[in-house]
Amino acid sequence: MNRREFARLLAIGGAVPFVTPELTWARSAKLPPTPASPDEKFWMSVRDQFVMPKELTMLNAANLCPSSAPVLDTLYKTTRDMDQDPSMENRAKLGEGRENTRRLLAEFLRVTPEEIVITRNTSESNNLVSTGLDLKPGDEVLLTADNHPSNHTAWQQKAKRFGFTVIDVPVPNPHPGFDYYVDAFTKAITPRTKVISFTHQTSTVGDLFPAKDICRLARERGILTLVDGAQSFGLFDVDLSDIQPDFYSGSAHKWPCGPKENGVLYINKSAQSKIWASIFSAYPGRVGVSRTFEGFGQRDEPAMIAFGEALKLQTQIGRANIERRSRELTTGLIEGLKKIDGVKIWTSPEPSRRAAVLSFQPGSLDVRTLSAALYKNDHLGCATRGGQDRPGLRFSPHFYNTHADVEKAIAAVKKYMAAGV
Ligand SMILES: Cc1ncc(COP(=O)(O)O)c(C=O)c1O
Repeated sequence: MNRREFARLLAIGGAVPFVTPELTWARSAKLPPTPASPDEKFWMSVRDQFVMPKELTMLNAANLCPSSAPVLDTLYKTTRDMDQDPSMENRAKLGEGRENTRRLLAEFLRVTPEEIVITRNTSESNNLVSTGLDLKPGDEVLLTADNHPSNHTAWQQKAKRFGFTVIDVPVPNPHPGFDYYVDAFTKAITPRTKVISFTHQTSTVGDLFPAKDICRLARERGILTLVDGAQSFGLFDVDLSDIQPDFYSGSAHKWPCGPKENGVLYINKSAQSKIWASIFSAYPGRVGVSRTFEGFGQRDEPAMIAFGEALKLQTQIGRANIERRSRELTTGLIEGLKKIDGVKIWTSPEPSRRAAVLSFQPGSLDVRTLSAALYKNDHLGCATRGGQDRPGLRFSPHFYNTHADVEKAIAAVKKYMAAGV
């Protein structure tokens, strides 16, 4: 199938057969050193590190981020090296590369390599916790009502199997403030509470939770904490030595812009004796908890090594800069959207209670039709939320986005709100 046929199929909305992508991508210019105050020109050069065509605006970091060219290069070169010579002798260096990624992850999260398990994604990390803890009838697990299924359905299913009880702390909209949550958890804790599990930033409307305060509250009462970091890892300059959870999870393919099917589970040294590994096989990690928790059999070590490359790029740009930039773009989107008649924004208007996930209802427009139109006509990718619970579109900008993307998104929503889809 040639490009023209491919484009025609896309235009008529037909099923597009899988075609092996071309293996060439534009070599990106080297990223210049990060200036003391990064300007738009610098962020444009960050954008150039990604292989997305210039006209494509992706506002869907909360779902899946593109890998940068350095990550793709590492992934391809390392995979090719392995497949050119798959002998044990040639592959020995890959194990060292995997341990290097563990060290980079530990530095990134400000903990020790002995506390890091390289998993496949947040879902796996969360489930390793809910399956691995010894919970029994009479025990209680406190959750926030707005969690991803890997941190909600997973606990409910395991409660059915092992007989413990799951209790949801309500999550009102709009965000009621951090004190509300500290108070709500304080009141919900009972002598039977064994675990508190919540999402650092929700994927639905981008509510932020006071992770450090909730973890402190739990620690003082001998309760374990799992912080689902799918929407904070690679976006915030997360410092686990400050937050001090027992467990923290994240995915490489989201905000870190790493390869797919790589993730992290942090297991605090103090919690390691309280959790069982769920999978036992060959090829575990070499240090600390990875020796018992990371024996998942044969892994994609080139991808694990490319994960490290993603962390290096973020560190080079500056993680505080990345968080600031993503927040600034989100604020720009909110400011523009709130001027459009009929748009209802679900995300908190208070900047400290939100970060880079923004959800809104575009009047009575059908969100799936709108999202399809945005992609087809405006080359803009985002996520939709159906159903009755805060339905609408979700924009989640990241450090590869520019102010031009923000303006384009606002103009496009305005156009469809005025003229229909
Ligand atoms: C809060 C949260 N937790 C967990 C996940 C699961 O992530 P993954 O699909 O990478 O396992 C997601 C995915 O969107 C999420 O938003």
